[in-house]
Amino acid sequence: MPTLRSATASASPAATPSPAAASTPRSVKRRLTPGRAGESPKASRHTSPHRSPHAGAGTACTPKLLSASPKSSRKRLYGDLVAAEKPKWNPRDPAQMRAVKEALHVATVPSCELVCRDNEQRRVFEFCKACIEQEKAGSLYICGCPGTGKTLSVNKVKESLGRWADEMGMETPDSLAINCTNLANTSEIFSKILGQFQNRKKGSSKLSPLQQLQSMFSNEESAPRRMMLVIVDEMDYLITRDRAVLHDLFMLTTCPYSRCILIGIANAIDLADRFLPKLESLNCKPFAVTFRAYSKDQISDIIKHRLKVLEYDVFEPLALEFCARKVAAATGDMRKALGVCRSAVEVLETRLQDSDQELGIVTFDHMDIALSKAFKSPIVDSILCLPQHQQMVLCALANTFQHCKKKATTLGELNKSYIEICRSTQVPAVGMLEFSNMCMVLSDQGFMKLGQSKEDKLRRVTLQIDISDIGFAFKGNRFFQKCLKQPRC
Ligand SMILES: Nc1ncnc2c1ncn2[C@@H]1O[C@H](COP(=O)(O)OP(=O)(O)OP(=O)(O)O)[C@@H](O)[C@H]1O
Ligand SMILES: [Mg+2]
Repeated sequence: MPTLRSATASASPAATPSPAAASTPRSVKRRLTPGRAGESPKASRHTSPHRSPHAGAGTACTPKLLSASPKSSRKRLYGDLVAAEKPKWNPRDPAQMRAVKEALHVATVPSCELVCRDNEQRRVFEFCKACIEQEKAGSLYICGCPGTGKTLSVNKVKESLGRWADEMGMETPDSLAINCTNLANTSEIFSKILGQFQNRKKGSSKLSPLQQLQSMFSNEESAPRRMMLVIVDEMDYLITRDRAVLHDLFMLTTCPYSRCILIGIANAIDLADRFLPKLESLNCKPFAVTFRAYSKDQISDIIKHRLKVLEYDVFEPLALEFCARKVAAATGDMRKALGVCRSAVEVLETRLQDSDQELGIVTFDHMDIALSKAFKSPIVDSILCLPQHQQMVLCALANTFQHCKKKATTLGELNKSYIEICRSTQVPAVGMLEFSNMCMVLSDQGFMKLGQSKEDKLRRVTLQIDISDIGFAFKGNRFFQKCLKQPRC
């Protein structure tokens, strides 16, 4: 049985202390502030990751006031606080149901600060801030598993930078966000960047967009004076056989008059190891920030934080904890956690249709159903957490066993199938030794079984998981759909 998260997230997630978890003096709880009873005094915290005294201006999260019920004056019982009673959620009320689903929707960007990513945001912010202050180009590489808040955090940092620059009376940097999944080809990235500088009229240069950028940034007169924040998301898609696009991209920040702050975001944890050594030798090694998978407590804090815009409780605490525990043990993917919570709300909604119960709350049972729907197979989640090349080996295995009844192959044959995938996706293949090591790791995790042989290439390989789990894991992923001969779900 594969060990969940063993490949990427075995290091325990960054234990960013959750402000909500900090003990709150009772005297503070008792104040009639715009927070709920029991809420920590976070309103005074700065919202942006930097420590500017003005940082939080305009963005502080202001949960709705509790309606002042007569009960709220019932404060003390034997000198202790009795929490003000919250209004009850009425899941039959369409407006309330909509609000709950919206708060749990992945596309809903929290309007206030992000919890559990303070440290990462601060590092990204400080990096950009230093570049702006020194009017110097720089590059940053952000990596982490899916749903760990990379894109969201970078967007929040971008907003904070704008506010900070305003407050400091500095010129706000221009910004350009590119999602590489939308590029027709990898080198289109350079025309996108160039387009940002030449938005008025297109030059009729014979030079390629990359050459035009290089020449622009190497000439004091032609180089734009304003700092430019270039956010390149889903950067995994830029990996080509020779990694030239990636190198050229990062090299742009080393041109003498470049004012680009390049932020590359990718999933592959090992991408850094693969291409950073080369960049280091080219003297353009980016500063790196890793987003670790969310822990159980972080998932739980984030969900609670997102639900603070509502006046009522939606989940039984135990139900929420159950979801956080399961998701953290599988992938630590916040997207998944939100999806499960929404699905649990829908389970309750369906149940209510068959009963005359007026009020309701999502219970452990509802969550249990939602979780079993989401985690049909824990293997799927562990596949999603593997480094990209190991995932490609699994695709090679699936391709090998897909069209025939045979249950075993050899390491040599598997290697051929893997190389074929690398060719079709233009991802540089690793050498035989590294390939063999990857297979041993996959074997240790229970994805496949490796037999013994004097010659590595002759070692017998058998698949130990259901082939459909591989197809299911990569369903909807364009890159892996290319790897799999015939996607299976
Ligand atoms: N700290 C957080 N607070 C609130 N919501 C969060 C947080 N982190 C993640 N989310 C939610 O999870 C969703 C996924 O986050 P995000 O898109 O930033 O992940 P990612 O790391 O960029 O994933 P991918 O690698 O798949 O692009 C967000 O849209 C947001 O709804
Ligand atoms: Mg993202």
